[in-house]
Amino acid sequence: MYAFNKKDSYTFSFSSPEQLRYYMEYNGYTIPFSKDISPLGEKVKIKAPDGSYKTVKNALATHPMEGCDAEIDGSPSDLTKRRYARFSGSGAGLVWAEAISVVPEARTSDHQMMINESTADSFKSLVEDMKKNDVFAVAQLTHSGRFAKNSDTPHALFATRSLPFEEKRPQDIGVPVITDDYLDRLPEKYAKAAKIAEDAGFDAIDVKACHQYLLDELLSAHTREGKYGGSFENRARLMIDCFDAVRAVLKPDTVLASRLSLSDMIDYPYGFAVSETKPTQPDLTETKKLIEILQAKGLGLINMTMGSPYFNPHINRPYNKGSYDPPEHPLVGLERMIDGSREIRKAFPEIALIGTGYSYLREFAPYVAAGALHEDAATMIGFGRMAFAYDTFAKDMIEGNVNPSKVCIACSKCAEIKRLSQHTGCPIRDQEIYLPIYREHCMKARNTAK
Ligand SMILES: Cc1cc2nc3c(=O)[nH]c(=O)nc-3n(C[C@H](O)[C@H](O)[C@H](O)COP(=O)(O)O)c2cc1C
Repeated sequence: MYAFNKKDSYTFSFSSPEQLRYYMEYNGYTIPFSKDISPLGEKVKIKAPDGSYKTVKNALATHPMEGCDAEIDGSPSDLTKRRYARFSGSGAGLVWAEAISVVPEARTSDHQMMINESTADSFKSLVEDMKKNDVFAVAQLTHSGRFAKNSDTPHALFATRSLPFEEKRPQDIGVPVITDDYLDRLPEKYAKAAKIAEDAGFDAIDVKACHQYLLDELLSAHTREGKYGGSFENRARLMIDCFDAVRAVLKPDTVLASRLSLSDMIDYPYGFAVSETKPTQPDLTETKKLIEILQAKGLGLINMTMGSPYFNPHINRPYNKGSYDPPEHPLVGLERMIDGSREIRKAFPEIALIGTGYSYLREFAPYVAAGALHEDAATMIGFGRMAFAYDTFAKDMIEGNVNPSKVCIACSKCAEIKRLSQHTGCPIRDQEIYLPIYREHCMKARNTAK
């Protein structure tokens, strides 16, 4: 049905909002669209575990975007602070801070942020600076599991065997999976990190379960033996234990959040929330089961995502140019995420939900974002790559004044830099800092590979 042409993967072929709208309608996409962009500027309420509500000044958010630029002890560097000054100054009402490691061995690089007693003060001052822009700040707590790569850790920390990943990285085949004993000790680590983050001033704590990092990989651990694998109850055990441990130490009006992969889109038995019979089809039955459990424990905010940036990045961030040509039109990816988000909104109207994948739409994103808010397919709309590229994107979207020469062009150069664990940002729109980094690391790596 969709007129997918291979050139759609490397060109953005819409020159007006009307043309985009016509294309989507003609091809039967379920992607919403609204010329009335007023919902972008409307206040949003988010429920805390004690039943009280926090108000966010508008319906736009910056997504968590790992910058690989923290100091070696995990505290924010000057470059990290610059990024957060841009995110919080963008006009967005909510800033979802990137993956912050709860333990040293789980960092994706020696420059991933990490929260503990010795970095606590640096986070406090980061949040204080962000709060000058009246934002709602979320701390993303993570254990990077399979993607841990740092000088404390000789090899990655696998939650389960995963053939799709190991086929791509045969060097991982003999590496043992982490033990139940190791996993048993993690909830207290999450709780400790959560308390420090709350004391630092964060308004919400995210127990992250997405993108095949540890808690998400466990959700997909159909083939793991023992108490953390096999049945849904076992696979969800650590996520729930971490959530309980975090909740127990926080004030009752601190919002409990999760960046959640609604579906990994990795074939059964290696992905979470996928059809057991139809390859790569999402099946949100277990996702809803998990959300229902977490909601009863106080979950008030979800930032939805799908897929794995390490395995099928076109699912999570529809792009024009990436490490491979996507097998589908980027709008199909966006439609899949909006459909997932709509389904979860419908099932859990009390939980605020942030939609994902909109940066691909460039200057036309506000119309689809507003459409999604109008039809309640999301409570807020988040922007990741756009926030790297465009320092005032949210203010300009709300005012209907987006500058096409500042938008993200979905070229995946930020992801390319991140893959090499270098300081990450936009080498196209934020050239002064990031073009030299891109040239030095990514272009050199390409030239060496030739
Ligand atoms: C360089 C880079 C770093 C990212 N870091 C994180 C992260 O720390 N935590 C997370 O949950 N998602 C992370 N993401 C995913 C984004 O939050 C977001 O889901 C994705 O970019 C799609 O949204 P967009 O279309 O607005 O870019 C990252 C993406 C990129 C490209």
